[in-house]
Amino acid sequence: MTTHEQWQLTLEAAELYEHCPARYILGPWAPLLVDAANLAPDERVLDVACGTGVVTRIAAKRVGPTGRVVGVDLNPGMIAVAQSLSAPAGARIEWLERSALDLRLEDASFDVVLCQQGLQFFPDKVVALREMHRVLNHGGRLALSVWNSTGLYNNAVGDALARLVGNEVAVRFNASRQVPTAEDLRSLATEAGFSAVDVRVSRIDVHLPRLDKFVLDHLAATPVASAIAAADPEARKKIGASVMEQLRRYADGDGVTYPEETHVLTANVL
Ligand SMILES: C[S@@+](CC[C@H](N)C(=O)[O-])C[C@H]1O[C@@H](n2cnc3c(N)ncnc32)[C@H](O)[C@@H]1O
Repeated sequence: MTTHEQWQLTLEAAELYEHCPARYILGPWAPLLVDAANLAPDERVLDVACGTGVVTRIAAKRVGPTGRVVGVDLNPGMIAVAQSLSAPAGARIEWLERSALDLRLEDASFDVVLCQQGLQFFPDKVVALREMHRVLNHGGRLALSVWNSTGLYNNAVGDALARLVGNEVAVRFNASRQVPTAEDLRSLATEAGFSAVDVRVSRIDVHLPRLDKFVLDHLAATPVASAIAAADPEARKKIGASVMEQLRRYADGDGVTYPEETHVLTANVL
């Protein structure tokens, strides 16, 4: 199974994605990625692998009503949820069901391309980066993020899944963390034609609410949802407790607050 196939979600899973990982795990990073792109009023912005639009909506506010914002995602459930959410004040957002490998958008029609935690899923990363390069105008900017490690929480969930459900499910869950190194990211962007390629580590503290419920909701919003639903109910109940136990030193109220890092790549079109 390719990572491309792994990110096919049902509409129900996409709704959970918005309420759970998008809100707690991806959402806190969105303003940082938009900051890295230095968006200005009136600009035209494309958000590739937009999911339910956590980055797209912030971009729309930043470029204002005279800007243009397009969000594209392969998954029809993600696009349907993105479309159903109330629009922010700012640019009108156009949502398109598209592959990052075949954007079907005009050459040089955007000032900025954003892509938060999408690249690791693309079956051909250089083709996707070339598409981003193609749709950017002269002087256009790319800001893209990809995790730089498995991370404390994903490590704990992966460990619990391997012991309680099965190793294959644990590996599939952590597909989002099978990522290029900083050096690979630089080479991929350069091969795709980008200039001034820079890769930095960005850090924040992530807060998650009560893990017994959160972990199961999170898993239901990922491509391993059906494997978890089919697992032994007793094993399922133990997953959240196991994750909480592994992250005990990060306990914060009912939940946890832990440090997380990602790579942020910025680059230009000359
Ligand atoms: C971890 S989610 C990130 C979504 C969003 N950027 C966010 O920050 O919430 C990865 C997204 O990549 C999308 N995706 C995976 N493969 C894709 C492809 N080939 N083309 C476009 N989107 C893709 C998935 O549908 C999913 O919405």
